Amino acid sequence: MVGADSLALIADDIRTCRACPLCESATQSVPGSGATDARLLIIGEAPGAHEDKAGMPFVGASGKVLDKLLHVAGVARSTVFIANVVKHRPPQNRDPLPAEVAACAQFLQRQIAVINPLLIVPLGRYAAARWIPGIKISSAHGIPQHVANYIVVPMLHPATALYQPRNMAVLEADFQALGVLYRTVLGDVAQ
Ligand code: URA
Repeated sequence: MVGADSLALIADDIRTCRACPLCESATQSVPGSGATDARLLIIGEAPGAHEDKAGMPFVGASGKVLDKLLHVAGVARSTVFIANVVKHRPPQNRDPLPAEVAACAQFLQRQIAVINPLLIVPLGRYAAARWIPGIKISSAHGIPQHVANYIVVPMLHPATALYQPRNMAVLEADFQALGVLYRTVLGDVAQ
């Protein structure tokens, strides 16, 4: 089965999931979107209000920051896949509970298996902790690590630049370096 079909099936399973209470308070699920053959997978924490309304990840204020960062990296948003650890919005944007993260884990795992990216970029400590348990994102951001078959580059969450403007410079430097790494890795694969 081609990637797009498999991802659509996973999205259907997410839509009908009742494994945790978030589906009751959310408007709809936000399975993720982007290129089904993406080499770069970006993973946020959970949908916010705008994402809940649109059914799409990173379309609100954090999404605007992410768009700017992708521009800095020289990577078109249309070429990456963007998903979240948790697929329904937690009420009042509270942090997802461990049970909610656990209930959603199989979906992210299946998305990763289908997309099979070269690079995974978790945004913020919740997403990063999935690959690097106990990570201190304040010191580990931007540093590529080999985890399983992937190069994982943990980043500060783009939302941190909204309430702490100096984080924007940190994010821009990390995404610029990510762009260089991405093109190097793509070049290595093409040879
Ligand atoms: N923050 C996230 O972590 N994910 C989104 O989709 C939007 C904001």
